Amino acid sequence: MKTQKTLVTRTKLSLTLAFLTVAFASVLSGCTEKSTKTTTNTTTTTKTESSPAKAALVVGFSQIGAESAWRSAETQSIQDEAKKRGITLKFSDAQQKQENQIKAIRAFIAQKVNAIILAPVVETGWEPVLREAKAAQIPVVLVDRGIKTSDETLYSTLIASDFVEEGRMAGQWLIKKMGGTANVVELQGTAGAAPAIDRKAGFQEAIAKSPGMKIIKSQSGEFTRSKGKEVMEAFLKSEGNKIQAVYAHNDDMALGAIQAIEEAGFKPGKDIVVISVDGVKPAFESMVAGKLNSTVECNPLLGPSAFDAIDSLVAGKTLPKKTLVKDQVFDQSNAKEVIASRAY
Ligand code: AHR
Repeated sequence: MKTQKTLVTRTKLSLTLAFLTVAFASVLSGCTEKSTKTTTNTTTTTKTESSPAKAALVVGFSQIGAESAWRSAETQSIQDEAKKRGITLKFSDAQQKQENQIKAIRAFIAQKVNAIILAPVVETGWEPVLREAKAAQIPVVLVDRGIKTSDETLYSTLIASDFVEEGRMAGQWLIKKMGGTANVVELQGTAGAAPAIDRKAGFQEAIAKSPGMKIIKSQSGEFTRSKGKEVMEAFLKSEGNKIQAVYAHNDDMALGAIQAIEEAGFKPGKDIVVISVDGVKPAFESMVAGKLNSTVECNPLLGPSAFDAIDSLVAGKTLPKKTLVKDQVFDQSNAKEVIASRAY
């Protein structure tokens, strides 16, 4: 409470000063919109001065990397929204490494940003650095993935999909499609990541009700197309035509698996049923082509909600600990109809 009050006072003061300065300058020179970009190693700062009051806000965004089409869509959404709102965004790409994310957060703290957006690569190991952010009175908004901590005051809010439910939806769809019996191979996401853990748990929970559904192989494909293909090749080598279905924790791995299935002389979507999670445009194209059977949507367009949350925090409001993003299942029966309206 004390932390939030101090933050509000500090931010109000700097916003007022910024407003007066820019308003005065605008009277003298006319109000123009200016955008500048500076890049150092993996950190990019995009400064957009469009509205005097908002120009004072500086937000650090620690992103996991660019492993999937989903991830790129999330980055784009946050960058676009910052630009739209005239917020200076300090963007850091961690290239899949938690240590890089921790370094980036420390740099944001040293730069005295007003807030931090964090998409955490794995669930554990965040407490020390988040304690540092808390001590510096910088609110942290988690996007997309959650963390495991016994101290929930270390972050302000989490905006994410329900990954367990996504796994359940995939399991239920597959049971129906396979009539309750199938040998399934599973391509897991990054080890230790919330979506990999939860999507596995949700899927297992759903198929536990159908004893004919068996996971005969399960391995991480690291959420990438190339690793998904590589792991699927190994599955096909060891299990051959025993494989009846693939459950991939994201579309990129499913698309890699589809390539491996074709190269092995099977027809994806027919000989081997493929289901994944995300709902990115290439997955819809694959469904329209009859290769991918189904995808469970996971919405990456989190920019507007993330900055709404930051606005609320700066205004001293308390946010719910978690805001769930609603998702739905798509398959070959409706892919053609909706493909043109997909935003990512
Ligand atoms: O955390 C969301 C997951 O991470 C997406 O499903 C996947 O594509 C991404 O890399």
